[in-house]
Amino acid sequence: MRKGLFALAAVSLLATGSIAACGDDSGSDSGSSGGSSAAAAGKVGIILPDTKSSQRWGTDDPKFLKAAFDAAGVPVEIQNAQGDKTQFQTIADGMISSGVAVLMIVNLDSGTGKAVLEKAKKAGIATIDYDRLTLSGGADYYVSFDNVAVGKLQGEGLVKCLEDKKLTKPVVAELNGSPTDNNATLFAEGYDSILNPKYADGTFVKGPNQDVPDWDNAQAGTIFEQMLTSNKNIKGVLAANDGLGNAAISVLKKNKLNGQVPVTGQDATVQGLQNILAGDQCMTVYKAIKKEADAAAELAVALAKKQKPTTATGTTKDPESGADVPSVLLEPQSITKENVKDVIADGFVTKDAVCTADFAKACTDAGIS
Ligand code: BGC
Repeated sequence: MRKGLFALAAVSLLATGSIAACGDDSGSDSGSSGGSSAAAAGKVGIILPDTKSSQRWGTDDPKFLKAAFDAAGVPVEIQNAQGDKTQFQTIADGMISSGVAVLMIVNLDSGTGKAVLEKAKKAGIATIDYDRLTLSGGADYYVSFDNVAVGKLQGEGLVKCLEDKKLTKPVVAELNGSPTDNNATLFAEGYDSILNPKYADGTFVKGPNQDVPDWDNAQAGTIFEQMLTSNKNIKGVLAANDGLGNAAISVLKKNKLNGQVPVTGQDATVQGLQNILAGDQCMTVYKAIKKEADAAAELAVALAKKQKPTTATGTTKDPESGADVPSVLLEPQSITKENVKDVIADGFVTKDAVCTADFAKACTDAGIS
């Protein structure tokens, strides 16, 4: 009887989960404990932010998240708010009223993220901040990378590239991420901890420094164009991710300065890796999204089965509310021409995607076979 009831509840949950990537059929018979544990688990709703600020949200995260939930046999619905805060809230309302057991979000800003998390909490739904901490959001768990460490790798990477070029007192421009993304604050904390002492002792000269609203790549291009127009002497660019980096590289190309001015990045996107192979980008930061997705799914699966997760062994202090959020924080890795091959070997991007005709020689030179 009880089992029957559970099965019924699970079926009705699945029936309401209309859209997108449901892990129901393909995953239902996988895994050793199979049917009964899947039947006991509620659905997990995931909202990703956009598809423009980085390759990851449209390609990598949904792929790895879906695979993780499928493997666990737990139903999942993954949607993307396409950069629209109203849409974000509409999706959340739909997931909450459909009775998800767990809601996982990547906020578009802390204000709207907080509103969604509070609604979910009122409905008795467990919440996870995925990748971005929602300030004062009160999520039950947070899964991300050590984002200050990401910034430090970017700062150190730029220092190394500028030193290799043996430039004296190079002017460094900074293109920061979105001012409403707590991660952007943490990345900047990381790279400024490396760059500020260099500005202070006169090794580098502090150039223009600007935030890019919503990590918008097009705006980044406009911003960097203005930076370069007013300061022709820019010799290095700390760009907070590959999209912003590519925007700067496009402007540098127009001015025939690409390759001479090192630019940083983040996310190990296909475009970022190709820019590195071409010599136009100094480095990127590889964050193993599969590990992040697996860690988040592991938490969500436990919560969906009404079990207490055991994997969030760290904590992150919410700088606004002061709350200690139980967390899983992963280590990022610095990527330069020498180890682009590691990202391919890890299965994050394929050789075919990176080593297209234009990059075939550079790939061979970089030991990608
Ligand atoms: C993520 C980065 C991403 C950026 C823009 C950040 O919160 O951590 O991986 O490049 O958002 O989407």
